[in-house]
Amino acid sequence: MIISTFLVCAGLAAQVAAACDRAKLQNAATAYVQAQANGKLTLLGLADNTSYAENDNPMNITKGLLSQPITIDFNRSIYDTTQCATFTELTAATSKHPYVIHTRMLLDDAGSKVTKIESVITDSGDWAFNATGHLYWTRQEKWEPIPENQRDTRAVIQAAADAYLNQWGNSTLPVPLNTPCARLEGGAYTGQSNPSANTCRMGAFPQPLAVANRRYVIDEELGAVDVFNGFPWLEATKPNGSVPSTNFIRVERGLIRYIHEVTVCETRNCGR
Ligand SMILES: *[C@@H]1O[C@H](CO)[C@@H](O)[C@H](O)[C@H]1NC(C)=O
Ligand SMILES: *[C@@H]1O[C@H](CO)[C@@H](O)[C@H](O)[C@H]1NC(C)=O
Ligand SMILES: *[C@@H]1O[C@H](CO)[C@@H](O)[C@H](O)[C@H]1NC(C)=O
Ligand SMILES: *[C@@H]1O[C@H](CO)[C@@H](O)[C@H](O)[C@H]1NC(C)=O
Ligand SMILES: *[C@@H]1O[C@H](CO)[C@@H](O)[C@H](O)[C@H]1NC(C)=O
Ligand SMILES: *[C@@H]1O[C@H](CO)[C@@H](O)[C@H](O)[C@H]1NC(C)=O
Repeated sequence: MIISTFLVCAGLAAQVAAACDRAKLQNAATAYVQAQANGKLTLLGLADNTSYAENDNPMNITKGLLSQPITIDFNRSIYDTTQCATFTELTAATSKHPYVIHTRMLLDDAGSKVTKIESVITDSGDWAFNATGHLYWTRQEKWEPIPENQRDTRAVIQAAADAYLNQWGNSTLPVPLNTPCARLEGGAYTGQSNPSANTCRMGAFPQPLAVANRRYVIDEELGAVDVFNGFPWLEATKPNGSVPSTNFIRVERGLIRYIHEVTVCETRNCGR
């Protein structure tokens, strides 16, 4: 009895404490972009023991890509005030070494220190990689704040993204797609020939895919969610394994408007 009351209180306390300030998350994401542009970790407010991983490999942050400067042509971030988390997409097309990078950061409850950074980093040879194409298309899209009276709940936004991923495991499941809807995979854009159509619909994969290990960042104000996940099947050498992947999704009135997929080809044999 005492124990269960304690657990309930601890649970509530954790929920309340986790809500953090949007402006602080915006500052953290801006600092992240500047840190990556300059290759200077000191521009980021890191916790003492910030965990850092690139493409699911934990590593010492001082040895990572974040410690090297990259010319960034475009960046887009979303802010999860419930989880104290940010997500940022970096498009580096004119950099000496082009990249498209998706990064998820977790902050402490005060929203001031970054406790975890994980990135999916794609470059030449990864799935449909073309940073020039990515830059061209992402620049044309509108991910503006959703008017307050039209905002979806976190649950609706997450459900839309989950439905999209779940459909890969069962092609008959419905997916709430808007018309228009466009998907940017690496640098390839489905909306290229007909921007007013719904070009996000997918056929069935040759076998059902279970997309596991989903980690979300959800922003009701921007109607956006990013789902870090393991993408199965793509690697011929790992038929039952998965590769690092994320889907960055814009939802408007419950319907998917844009999808950006970034997926790593670990053995460099799936992107071509
Ligand atoms: C960092 O250290 C704090 C305090 O010791 C601990 O609560 C937290 O779990 C640690 N975070 C990570 C990512 O290891
Ligand atoms: C990470 O690398 C830096 C620079 O070489 C080093 O000072 C630090 O001790 C390393 N941290 C860990 C946890 O290995
Ligand atoms: C990131 O994007 C913002 C606009 O959203 C822009 O003001 C800023 O200069 C960009 N940062 C870099 C390093 O490109
Ligand atoms: C990359 O995208 C750009 C812009 O859409 C296009 O001009 C170029 O041909 C693409 N490159 C490759 C290798 O597909
Ligand atoms: C696929 O989804 C449909 C509902 O659309 C359901 O009836 C069916 O049982 C599912 N199939 C599998 C193999 O889970
Ligand atoms: C993958 O899973 C299938 C079905 O469980 C199994 O038959 C096959 O041997 C597995 N392949 C590898 C390389 O593990």
